[in-house]
Amino acid sequence: MARIELQQLHKTFGSLAAVQELGLEIAEGEFLVLLGPSGCGKTTTLNMIAGLEAPTSGRVLFDGRDVTKVLAYHRNVAMVFQSSLLYPHLSARRNIETSLRHSGLGRADRDRRIADVVRMLEIDPLLDKLPSQLSGGERQRVATAKAIVREPAAFLLDEPLSALDAALRLSLRSEIANLQKRLGTTTVLVTHDQIEAMTMGDRIAVMSNGRLEQIGTPDQIYNDPATLFVAGFLGAPPMNLIAGEVEAGCFRGIGFSLPVTAPTGPATLGVRPQDVRVVASEVQGALVARVFALEHLGRESVLIVEADKSTKLRVLVPPSFGARVGERLFLAADPERCLLFGAEGMRLPLHPAVPG
Ligand SMILES: Nc1ncnc2c1ncn2[C@@H]1O[C@H](COP(=O)(O)OP(=O)(O)O)[C@@H](O)[C@H]1O
Ligand SMILES: [Mg+2]
Repeated sequence: MARIELQQLHKTFGSLAAVQELGLEIAEGEFLVLLGPSGCGKTTTLNMIAGLEAPTSGRVLFDGRDVTKVLAYHRNVAMVFQSSLLYPHLSARRNIETSLRHSGLGRADRDRRIADVVRMLEIDPLLDKLPSQLSGGERQRVATAKAIVREPAAFLLDEPLSALDAALRLSLRSEIANLQKRLGTTTVLVTHDQIEAMTMGDRIAVMSNGRLEQIGTPDQIYNDPATLFVAGFLGAPPMNLIAGEVEAGCFRGIGFSLPVTAPTGPATLGVRPQDVRVVASEVQGALVARVFALEHLGRESVLIVEADKSTKLRVLVPPSFGARVGERLFLAADPERCLLFGAEGMRLPLHPAVPG
């Protein structure tokens, strides 16, 4: 198990800065998720941790030791990819065994390690099959067994569930999280799927355009987003983002107003669909909108309204809620649950700081 530090990591491909000034620390035994949209630099970051890609500048440390120039093979990390690399001509068991070929372990120790991972991942019935005889999910289990059997210092997973169907993704998600906790191996998982990140990670590092936007627990990232990007990226249905202006201590946008202390200038107000209510027209400050669509999700529904031609808002409503497309209704947001972001996308305080 290793503590991993990334210091000022930078990677350019020609004129493209794929990863920029990335600094973060992953505690021993921690499960960190790197989350962000496609192309934001997640795989490049993971490859630099693994030693598969050399940083343009910056350092990678394992347990305080600089491994930036250490070859992947000597870093003792194990990787699992979206479509895992199994030798097609070898049975599942032989595939797992190849990981221990250079381990220096004796036959008995190797057999014991393999028996352990086989039991943990419940792959006993698969051992004599060839990769072509396994389903996508079974292949990922064998690949995971192959990766962890070495008892690596760190476990690096690049979108390991992306190629699987929804039901399998759901079950493997909790299996990987459970296995990681039992093994206690420092783990970095890359995904563009916010649900995966929220459900699996001890902490989430959100990236966009090669930069770290925020790092924190799932609760911090969801409830206390540091930037507009993080606020908009996490949450389903997504947070409502209302473009507007702060002037004379009040945010105004699409007929919506909220007293704030932020400085004058362009700003964006964010409010999650569960924090908006349909209200009677008399309520002061209520926003007028027209029903655009109603999506039934079973336990609740998502009401989508048009506040103006370019702004749609989402509101969570009970499943019994009825609405006609085009109908006018009134909305209010819970002011305590609103977030404010400045022109650069940085979070602004809504209320004056209470003097300590
Ligand atoms: N070997 C490479 N050569 C040139 N550009 C690359 C290379 N690898 C990645 N990139 C670019 O770097 C950016 C980040 O890529 P990547 O780390 O794969 O993103 P992600 O995994 O978040 O989708 C992308 O714009 C990608 O096209
Ligand atoms: Mg990638």
